[in-house]
Amino acid sequence: MRPLGVVIAVLVTIIMVFFARRLATDVPHIVAGTVPDDDLTEKYVAHPWLAYGHIVPGVVYLLGAPLQLSHRFRSRHYRLHRRLGRVLLGCALLSGVLSVVLGVVFAWGGGAETTATLVFGSWFVVALLLAFRAIRRGQVPQHRRWMVRAFAVGLGVATIRIWVGLFTGIQIGLLGMGDETMPVRATFGIAFWLGLSMHVAFAEWWLRRTPDLDG
Ligand code: HEM
Repeated sequence: MRPLGVVIAVLVTIIMVFFARRLATDVPHIVAGTVPDDDLTEKYVAHPWLAYGHIVPGVVYLLGAPLQLSHRFRSRHYRLHRRLGRVLLGCALLSGVLSVVLGVVFAWGGGAETTATLVFGSWFVVALLLAFRAIRRGQVPQHRRWMVRAFAVGLGVATIRIWVGLFTGIQIGLLGMGDETMPVRATFGIAFWLGLSMHVAFAEWWLRRTPDLDG
């Protein structure tokens, strides 16, 4: 596996871990109809349709997208690429639109998270729509470019978690702030901005480096 493939696999795994953790925390409360103690979980439990309408299609998209972006897979299984592409595009659009709703209505990290979600969630949805328009017009290189941009944002969700982990470690471990002060909350929005802008920048660099993969 190439180094980029390894990085993608690690980032997808991080997202799967957080997805599993979310399920393990929320589902018992949703089933029993109980209210969780912490306000982050409370948000997911109170609005399961919105939260999981974002998370589940997002997970499906992120698991399928690496296959779609593989040049080898596309050239060998073009029909499957087209069929799977429709399903994954639908999932990604649903997840992207609901991410903006989540970020505007229930941003746990406050204003910085809301603005980051508006900017990058919109960029994600626009990139997907432009990718679709490009392929309808038979513009394969442009289709690939917009799909790479969208995927980079989706994968950025994992890098946000890495930043949140680093900020938490610094604040609790180095600065000695207790868990009860909820230091994570203040840095959540910053983690969104850092994680997602890094991914957008990386995608542009990658596209300049590999401009003609599809001719
Ligand atoms: C496409 C793939 C995506 C997947 C698999 C995904 C997955 C997730 C998961 C698992 C959570 C729960 C996080 C936790 O429990 O720690 C979450 C929450 C959230 N996601 Fe996504 N996401 C995706 C895309 C996006 C995009 C593109 C945005 C916007 C830029 C976004 C914005 C949000 C927001 C605002 C929340 C709520 C965070 C909070 O609790 O305040 N997501 N997502």
